[in-house]
Amino acid sequence: MTTSRRRTPNPNSMTSKLWSPEGPNLVVQAENSSFLGSLPDAAFSLIYLDPPFNTGRVQSRQNTVMVRSSNGSRQGFAGHSYETIKGSLHSYDDAFTDYWAFLEPRLLEAWRLLAEDGTLYLHLDYREVHYAKVMLDSIFGRECFLNEIIWAYDYGARAKSRWPTKHDNILVYVKDPSKYHFDSVAVDREPYMAPGLVTAEKAARGKLPTDVWWHTIVSPTGKEKTGYPTQKPEGLLRRVVAASSKPGDWVLDFFAGSGTFGAVAAALDRRFVCIDQNPEAIGIMAKRLGEVAELVQETS
Ligand SMILES: C[S@@+](CC[C@H](N)C(=O)[O-])C[C@H]1O[C@@H](n2cnc3c(N)ncnc32)[C@H](O)[C@@H]1O
Repeated sequence: MTTSRRRTPNPNSMTSKLWSPEGPNLVVQAENSSFLGSLPDAAFSLIYLDPPFNTGRVQSRQNTVMVRSSNGSRQGFAGHSYETIKGSLHSYDDAFTDYWAFLEPRLLEAWRLLAEDGTLYLHLDYREVHYAKVMLDSIFGRECFLNEIIWAYDYGARAKSRWPTKHDNILVYVKDPSKYHFDSVAVDREPYMAPGLVTAEKAARGKLPTDVWWHTIVSPTGKEKTGYPTQKPEGLLRRVVAASSKPGDWVLDFFAGSGTFGAVAAALDRRFVCIDQNPEAIGIMAKRLGEVAELVQETS
């Protein structure tokens, strides 16, 4: 595989030459694991990752359920015996195993690429977050876990058979708990829920956000909408960038999609690398970030 830059075509250039601390912002079309190795250790102050859940493989699993039986092989509650029977094939467990085999090496790379004062935000949902917590504890160390942010929104159909799931989970880990950067003052403030209970001055200033962020999804009719199906709202990522990096810092998103993270980073004067393998995402990022970044495309 060779790599070329659109503005400076050089099909023989090596990926390791593409990024430098003095160089331009980059939008890279590449399978991320093939590109990340070209980036040097500790180069980024902030990494935001919003990986897809479905990595595209068709999978199967054996569903195991317990049923009561008089001669079963396992003892259950109240003296009943149970037999483990194998249920029908479903498509979740193996997909899950594959998913983690996909994500783990990329999270290890994220750890390598983070600066000493750096922070990782991993954006997931309720199906994956508990497993991811265990994985990140093992990669970073439990003492490096900073927060679990709940992004709560209120949109779409409501399940009737359980509590409707209307939130995402964002795990936050720091490379070194004694050195990380966090600027709560740089973050936008929120209205008090009960402004009558605080002074007028406090009510006017608003309160610091907590780890629960109420924020609308990208409006289907709003000007922020790019048409990319998994686009995240800028308001959410503005908090991430403002709190966990400084102007001039290098920041990285290697599941970049429509480039929301890059757009926010540029607006806040950070320097960025956004990577995605999907040509549709690259097309959208070219429009959204073309003025402030150089486009790099892998060609095979
Ligand atoms: C959930 S979307 C990210 C959306 C993004 N946060 C936004 O606001 O638009 C995940 C992205 O990861 C990309 N992706 C998945 N696997 C990849 C890989 N191995 N290398 C590079 N990009 C990948 C997909 O093409 C997709 O655009």
